[in-house]
Amino acid sequence: MSTLDTIHHKPRILTGDTPTGSLHLGHWVGSVKRRVELQDSHDCYFIIANMHAYTTRLAKSEEIKRDSIGIVRDYLAMGIDPEKATIFLQSEIPAIAELTFLFAMLLPFNRVMRNPTLKTEIELKGLGETYSFGFPLYAVGQTADILAFRPVGVPVGEDQVPHLELTREVARRFNQIFCKVDEHIEDDDHVKGGGVFPVPRADVGEVGRLAGIDGVNKMSKSLNNAIFIGDSAKEVEKKVKKIFTGRQSATEPGDTTNVLFQYVRIFIKDQARVKELEAKYAAGADIGDGHVKLEVAAAINELLEPMRERRAKYEGRDDLVLDILKAGCARANVVAEATLERVKHHANLVAWPRTLAYS
Ligand code: TRP
Repeated sequence: MSTLDTIHHKPRILTGDTPTGSLHLGHWVGSVKRRVELQDSHDCYFIIANMHAYTTRLAKSEEIKRDSIGIVRDYLAMGIDPEKATIFLQSEIPAIAELTFLFAMLLPFNRVMRNPTLKTEIELKGLGETYSFGFPLYAVGQTADILAFRPVGVPVGEDQVPHLELTREVARRFNQIFCKVDEHIEDDDHVKGGGVFPVPRADVGEVGRLAGIDGVNKMSKSLNNAIFIGDSAKEVEKKVKKIFTGRQSATEPGDTTNVLFQYVRIFIKDQARVKELEAKYAAGADIGDGHVKLEVAAAINELLEPMRERRAKYEGRDDLVLDILKAGCARANVVAEATLERVKHHANLVAWPRTLAYS
């Protein structure tokens, strides 16, 4: 076992994002909050999957580059600490590309194409029959993103679970074919049984879905219903005021399962106040949506204020963000190269010893 496996004495996890633009409250609630909590107890790796963005935005590579830096800025604002966690750029980890090629041999073609997340994406993005070979390949690539780091867990949203299933299959097959791990061994015993890869768990967070301010759809940049981490206090107030509930008056009994009350429960910290608002609203006890919205906006701004302060340091300072990414890539490459070395050894891909320098 290489020293890096034992240096931290903490379970290793990996997760990440495809850079698609600014992060919003949906990202915070659904995943980043959890990552901030995990960074003390776990050895954390966070991947910016920029190559994945090329599957659908090939002609907009400048945008992808800008978004990759933007997403790291958002991470830092939200409290991910680069001293504790490793944030890195997918395209700077050559081992991921090498592993992708080999892993592609471990998966039946039809198995990849049956992945429901891929199917949904093809439908939602209207890709029809025109998508590139690289599009389904990204699902294989994601197994390499993960396994390059041999994590025990992958904190993700519900939609990523099919990718994790694929990853678990690759890990099992590699261990069985190349490390002679017994076919009937339990998933948790693969490393003990001689496998290179742990069979990583999908760790699905509690709040999977935050509705957008349209009150209907999932919060999403492309649906124009998002409150961004970088929004000013005024913008937050303006957006919260737009939340649609359909309620007519302060004395009409309100529906506390509506989106406004989802926000009340998620963002207002004082539980007694939450209960009180719920009771009054349900009773139509002279409490208007406008008033509830003021309290929600204040609670969101209280959450965002420290994020705004942290972000200010990196605003217009892409150089600082790039330094953090570069240091992260150097650390990530040590782990990924160690994995690759073991993979090549077991798969009989070592013709003679060699190393490549990364700087
Ligand atoms: N596909 C993920 C998304 O769109 C991003 C991603 C790429 C990822 N590689 C990963 C997530 C590895 C977890 C682990 O959100």
